[in-house]
Parts: sequence; structure tokens; C-alpha cells
Amino acid sequence: MLPRSLRCCLPVCFLAAVFAAAPAAPATPASVDDRVRDLLARMTVEEKVGQLVQYSSQEDMTGPASSSSIAPQLAVGGVGSLLNVKGAAETRKWQKFAIDSSRLHIPLLFGLDVIHGYRTIFPVPLATACSWDMALIEQAEHVAATEAAASGLHWTFAPMVDIARDPRWGRVAEGAGEDTYLGSAIAQARVRGFQGGDLAAPDTILACAKHFAAYGAVQAGRDYYTTDVTERVLRDVYLPPFHAAVEAGAVTLMAAFNDLDGTPCSANAFLLDRVLRQEWGFQGFVVSDWQGILEMLEHGNAGDLREAARQSFLAGLDMDMEGEAYARHLAGLVRSGAVPMARLDAAAGAVLAAKFRLGLFDDPYRRGDEAREKAARPVPEHLALAREAVRRSCVLLKNNGILPLPTAGLTVALVGPLADAAADQMGCWNGEGRPGEVVTVRQALAEIYPGARLRYAEGCRTTGDDRRGFAAARAAAAGADVIVAALGEAKSQSGETTSRTNLDISGPQLDLLRELHATGKPVVLLLMSGRPLMLETVEPLVAAVLVAWHPGTMGGPGIADLLTGAANPSGHLTLTWPRSVGQIPIFYAHKNSGRPAPKSGHPEDPYYSRYIDSPNTPLHPFGFGLSYTRFALDRLRLSAALLQPGGAPLTVSVRVRNTGTRAGEEVVQLYVRDRVGSVTRPVRELKGFRKIALAAGEAQDVSFPLTPADLGFWRADQTFGPEPGEFEVFVGDDADATLTAAFTLAQ
Ligand code: GLC
Repeated sequence: MLPRSLRCCLPVCFLAAVFAAAPAAPATPASVDDRVRDLLARMTVEEKVGQLVQYSSQEDMTGPASSSSIAPQLAVGGVGSLLNVKGAAETRKWQKFAIDSSRLHIPLLFGLDVIHGYRTIFPVPLATACSWDMALIEQAEHVAATEAAASGLHWTFAPMVDIARDPRWGRVAEGAGEDTYLGSAIAQARVRGFQGGDLAAPDTILACAKHFAAYGAVQAGRDYYTTDVTERVLRDVYLPPFHAAVEAGAVTLMAAFNDLDGTPCSANAFLLDRVLRQEWGFQGFVVSDWQGILEMLEHGNAGDLREAARQSFLAGLDMDMEGEAYARHLAGLVRSGAVPMARLDAAAGAVLAAKFRLGLFDDPYRRGDEAREKAARPVPEHLALAREAVRRSCVLLKNNGILPLPTAGLTVALVGPLADAAADQMGCWNGEGRPGEVVTVRQALAEIYPGARLRYAEGCRTTGDDRRGFAAARAAAAGADVIVAALGEAKSQSGETTSRTNLDISGPQLDLLRELHATGKPVVLLLMSGRPLMLETVEPLVAAVLVAWHPGTMGGPGIADLLTGAANPSGHLTLTWPRSVGQIPIFYAHKNSGRPAPKSGHPEDPYYSRYIDSPNTPLHPFGFGLSYTRFALDRLRLSAALLQPGGAPLTVSVRVRNTGTRAGEEVVQLYVRDRVGSVTRPVRELKGFRKIALAAGEAQDVSFPLTPADLGFWRADQTFGPEPGEFEVFVGDDADATLTAAFTLAQ
């Protein structure tokens, strides 16, 4: 029996054809466009507007509360989507109510922030970005989609693809770091993982590239704040990952809170129409961020909610999240002629098309099967992938040889507020992750160092000034051979609304670390945070630094694998690690300026771009990461000295050798510098990377193709493309790569 929602979708002409002709040839299924057109033709203005209204479940708000009770609006088809509704039973309940009580029985879209896993919580996105492993990232998002869909979800507000170069902004944890090229590759991997190859499959969910655009450029690193970005920087740095997500098929985008060149992104026609629809040909729909339309009154570009709704809708913002702007004013705007019906049909049609593509009209309950939900709890293969993700995302910043730790004959003191902190270990946006399902560092190490061989003390919290735990920490250290200090950020210190002016390891933790150092025992710093924290004065106190970020459900086992050498660290930074907050923003793809720092040491001439109290260089460069083995890169060669437009790509090749004593993985990075341009160009830009595994003593050639399109940028004449001239390539395993060669791009 066809679900009621489908019966009403069949056009009368189709039914007549079926009964008139006999035997009818099997009807070719109507296309999504046909089905959308048919449904729109039978919808009232209010019902079309309803598709563009999204409310949050009252149980789990992810922003300031605003909406009144939503049941009456659901009953008349006045709501198209709900967010923050969790679980198969709950989504089924709301879906059934919406379908049964509304006239056209149009199913709801259920959305949630599935940012790094749903039940199985993976390392935060900044961490998995540091794996430089696109296959792993895609697999992780597919697991997240599988678990989320089993709970009735259709849509995740991810991937967050904001390029971020300011770790004062807590949301760096949600993104891929500072680099446009890598961020674009990661955006595509995440979209593929969420959406798969067929949105009608029950283990797929809609992706949502956010926050469109340049949210990572908020001034002073302060969340929700303003930006000041030229169109050139917007197009060269911040837009490409969104374009990449759209090209990978992302069905939705989310508009950013910030204004851009004076117009809030929620009503920015340059972004939402000119770039997104006219230049990129985007066919999906754009949702506001939480109350983004309402917030235009605070931005000050609209005097009342009706005007804000009018501006946003005409600019190209399709769905209103929790702001009630469209619910209250859009129908009136259409009836008054202030908004054309064609614009309403386009927006409502895009939402309906997504619902058709998801198969919701064929089976609105295909996702949200309680049996499948139970079966989709963190299953062994999901947990195994999460553990692998931890192994490949952690970054080894320092190691004087203390790591890996022997597993026999050693007593370990595990100290610090992140050592046994299940909730904090999951980090920000942890979906339906359950602390009881998390394996902490303490639990994992207790398996390897049983009984008295593991001495644990929390020592202190990440905030406040309570030092009463220091004595127990000293006592734990006294009886141990080595100290592992698990310090960093609580989950409340990372993600949305967590901008910080001070990026030192917070609270009493630094003093605790100094006490541990004073014991004379070697200290391994295990840093668990959602961003780089300042280590310039910390690194001299410790024998090793392993950055584990917020590693999620399997953080303990994955970290234990690395600490004991069961796995070899292979993560590389995707965000420059500053020496101090004073250097921020600091990133590798910077401009040269007219007075760059001289290459030589300390010249007598002070007249160049510098600080008097710090080097210009970061503590660790973008792309940096150590291993338990060593790699050597040499034999850099180019297939030609001249790259001809329209000709064969130029191939950059390098030999990579594992010169150490154990297998490991290297991230080989290709950077390019455009020596002279119609506008100033960065000193280098990432244009290729390969993560390769090599046994001890093994060597492998790695090649990168380069074409003129790879050298494109937003030129002085406001067009995109390369310019002929001299280029340099640099190949290495971080942004300070020194292996270099040169080529010319012909006219
Ligand atoms: C929040 C965030 C956004 C999230 C949305 C829904 O304010 O800015 O990233 O997807 O609200 O929770």
C-alpha cells in the first residue's frame, strides 16, 4: 500500500493513464523534478513556507531559546525540519505526527550536529585532519552517517569547512585547520562519507558545508564576531573548501553568523546567489545558522524581522533555523509581491527535492528503525576504526627517545585532569556519545601496566586554582619510572563559544607540570585539547609531547598504542603551532612583505618585519609531525623546466627513504611559490600531499602532477587563473621544506 504522502503525489493524469490503458507498460518512475513540480502545484503559500521553517527540539537546544510550541505548526504543514531530535523512537513519533496530521503529509527532515561521530565518537575534526588520510576520514563519516541514520536522522550540520588561522577561536577544533588545498580535499572526503553514492540508501545523510563563509576569520578570534576579508582573500583562502564540498555533491550549506564586507552572510547575495548559484551552479538549499536571520536586527542591517526575512530570502537563504522570521513573515511577503512566488517555489522545491532524494516520500521511516538503531550501537568494527583514527591523528611534537615506553618492567605514573575524563575526552559536539562507552587513557594503560605498575592521580582540574591534588600527584610520581601528564582542555573549553585570550595550558596544570618536572623523573606530556596550546616554556620541561587532541570514544586505546609503540605516530599538523598568542594570526602561506626577515641569523639591520621579543617563526610549522623512525627525502626532480598551458602536466618527483629501524608513515608535501604575480602571492602554498608507509630501510619515489590550473589565483583583473612566469617547488614533510627546484609556466 502506498504511504498516504505518496498517494497524494501522483498526478491525476498518471492515474488516468494507469486505468485507461491495459495492460499498461511499467511506468517509468517520475523524476524528482517532476515529483517536486507536481507537489508544489498543490501546495498553498503557507505550506511552501512551512518547508522553509526549522525548529529545535526543546530538549536539546544548541542556541538561545526562541520558538514557541511547534506541534500546532507541524499539524498544518508549517514546519519542514526539526533539529536536535535524537533517537529512532523520538524521530518516528514526530514524523508520524507531522505526516498524519498535515494535509499533504510531507515528511520532516531531521537534522543534528554529527560533527565527529554519532554514538562512536571519533577524534575531533581537527584531529582526523592531522591524519592527512582521506580514506580514513571518509570511512569515519560513513560510520557516523550509518549510526545517525539508524536513529532517524537525515541530515548533519557538517562538515565545518571554515579555514581557521586563529586558535583563540574555539571552533578550530571543528575544522581542518589553516590550509585551503588540504581543507578542500578533506571537505570532499567528509561529504562523500556522509552522503555516499545514493542518498536513498538508509545509511546516508545529507551533508551541510558550513559556515558559509569566512567564519574562521572572525576578528580577535572571537566567536560570532565580525570579519574584515577582501574578496581576493575570500576567493583564494575561504571559499575553495565550500566549492569543493559543492562539487562533491553537498546538498546543503549553512550560512555563517558573521557579516562579510558589511552584509551578514544570512543575507549576502554575493555569497548566496552570485557565487553559490551563478558561479558554482549549486542546486541544493541553504539553511541559516541558529536564528541567523533574527540576528540581523543586532547586526543592524534590518530594522525589523519582516525586513530581515525579506533581505535573507531574496539573497538566497532558503531555510530559517529557529528564528521564526520566515514562519511569521514570508507568506505575507509573497502575497504582497515583495518576494516573487518563483523564489518561494525554488526554495521549497529544493527542500522537497532533498526529501525525495532521501526516499522520504517512498518510506519516511526508512531511517529510524529501532532494531537497526540497537544494532548500530558502537559495534566492534566502528570502535576499531575509531581506534585507528586516534592512532593516525595524534601528532608527536617532541621525543628525546623516551617514547615508545617499554611495556615490561616499567611503572608509569599517569597524572592530570584528562587522564581519566571520559566526557572531556570526547571533546565538543559529541552527538549521542556516551561517557560510559568511552575508554579513557587510564583504563587503557591499566590493561598494559596492571596493578601497582600504573599509579594514577588527577592532580587538578583544567580550570580554577585547587592544588590539593598535587600531593597525590607527587606521590604517584615518586613511585614511578616515568610520568605521563595528561593535560589540556576540558570539553567545555573547546568548540562553540569558547574563544580564549590566553592559550597557555590552563588553571593549575602548568604548576602541576612543574612539580612533576621537579621530581626528576622523565615526563611525557600527553596534550588533549581542541586547539594548539602554548608550549614554548613547556617543552623544555618534558621529554616528549604527544598531541592527542580530543580523541573520542577510543582515545585511551589509540593513545596507549602510540605510547607503547604498538603503533607509530604519523599525524602531521594542519595548523601552525604558535610560540605565543602574540604571534596570532600566524600561518605558513603568508605574504613576503617588502621587508621579510633575512635568511641569515641576527643581522645588524633591524629594519625588517619582526618582533623585538620573539622570533617570527612558529614553535612548530604547518605539516610538522615526528615518527619513531626517521625519513630522508632527496633526488627532487622535475619532468621539465617549462610547463606549457595545454601541454602535459609537469611531474615533481622525490625519493623518500625510511632511514630508521622501524616501519612508519611519512606525509610528503609539495609546496609551490609563484615568484611574481599581478598581486602579491604567498611565500608558498600546499599543492599536493601523499601519506606513504615505508618499512625500515625501504625507499619509494613519490610523484606529484602540476598543471597550470593548480597555479590559479584571483588575479588583479578580478578573474581566476594562473599567470606565466617563474615558480619554485619545495618538497618535504612540513611547510619549512627545503628541497627545492624551479620551473617556468609558459605564456
Ligand atoms: C550552532 C552552530 C552551528 C550548528 C547550529 C545547530 O549555533 O553555529 O554550527 O550547526 O547551531 O546546532
